[in-house]
Amino acid sequence: MGAWTLFLLCILMCSFLPPSKPDPKDEDCLTHLSESLQDPNNHLQNWTKSIFANPCTGFTSYLQGATCNNGRIYKLSLSNLSLRGSISPYLANCTNLQALDLSSNYLTGPIPSDLQYLVNLAVLNLSSNRLSGEIPQQLAMCAYLNVIDLHDNVLTGQIPQQLGLLVRLSVFDVSNNKLSGPIPATLGNRTGTLPRFNASSYAGNKDLYGYPLAPMKSTGLSVLAIVGIGLGSGFLSLVLSFTAVCIWLRVTEHKNSGADDGKISQLMPDY
Ligand SMILES: *[C@@H]1O[C@H](CO)[C@@H](O)[C@H](O)[C@H]1NC(C)=O
Ligand SMILES: *[C@@H]1O[C@H](CO)[C@@H](O)[C@H](O)[C@H]1NC(C)=O
Ligand SMILES: *[C@@H]1O[C@H](CO)[C@@H](O)[C@H](O)[C@H]1NC(C)=O
Ligand SMILES: *[C@@H]1O[C@H](CO)[C@@H](O)[C@H](O)[C@H]1NC(C)=O
Ligand SMILES: *[C@@H]1O[C@H](CO)[C@@H](O)[C@H](O)[C@H]1NC(C)=O
Ligand SMILES: *[C@@H]1O[C@H](CO)[C@@H](O)[C@H](O)[C@H]1NC(C)=O
Repeated sequence: MGAWTLFLLCILMCSFLPPSKPDPKDEDCLTHLSESLQDPNNHLQNWTKSIFANPCTGFTSYLQGATCNNGRIYKLSLSNLSLRGSISPYLANCTNLQALDLSSNYLTGPIPSDLQYLVNLAVLNLSSNRLSGEIPQQLAMCAYLNVIDLHDNVLTGQIPQQLGLLVRLSVFDVSNNKLSGPIPATLGNRTGTLPRFNASSYAGNKDLYGYPLAPMKSTGLSVLAIVGIGLGSGFLSLVLSFTAVCIWLRVTEHKNSGADDGKISQLMPDY
């Protein structure tokens, strides 16, 4: 009973407390991110050191693209701003981040595996950039991920099997990259009540195969084609030489039989 009263009292008191102090981790995160990004069109005019130190005033932020909750950055939305540069691993210091949208820019370099420390991350949209390297398997550590949208980049390697562990995943799009290898069954053929992703989530990756895409690699087909051509040409040369031998036999047989005919007619008495 006492514990409950104390708990309720605490909740009451907490709601009357002034907004929490800026978190040094958010400052670290924003400082490093602004250093790794290039902003040739000057869209991020308020991304200055003085604002990084105190980015949140209640629920609002003077930082373009940033949304706050409880004095912490919880959403970063920097889509379609012609940004260049790369994604700083220090983004992981924005530990309350729930949504990260850097889509439709010209970002290069890898997707940092340090994003695994964003344990509250629900939405990751890095689509339509020039990101390269592999999809980090560590993303599977972000257990709340609902959305992984990585379409239209130049990502290589295989789709990590571990991503199948993300039971909340309802949108998954890795189309139009340079991924290869088999689609993990844990993602391609999800069972039970888990949302399934159709072929459009995987399309436009030349060397990716397996359900819901075609079952076999294109290189597998070309090996078959080579074997077929080999067998075919072997058979053809066999047929040609057989025909040649037949014709030769026919000709010599005809000569012989002609000679025999002559002999026979000579030997045969007339009746
Ligand atoms: C930039 O910051 C100033 C205050 O420093 C604020 O008045 C202004 O609205 C901010 N601009 C944006 C786009 O948030
Ligand atoms: C992206 O921004 C440009 C202008 O900077 C605008 O013309 C275009 O419609 C925007 N695209 C989207 C999808 O918002
Ligand atoms: C900030 O992020 C970097 C890169 O992930 C990490 O090395 C560092 O420990 C983080 N700092 C804090 C205070 O979490
Ligand atoms: C990711 O961002 C792009 C625009 O930049 C948008 O078209 C797409 O719908 C977003 N993905 C999700 C799953 O919301
Ligand atoms: C999908 O999974 C089910 C059950 O695990 C299995 O019976 C079926 O053969 C699988 N389909 C494909 C195309 O792998
Ligand atoms: C694939 O799924 C998406 C939604 O995730 C849907 O918009 C699209 O129509 C589906 N395509 C096919 C061919 O079923």
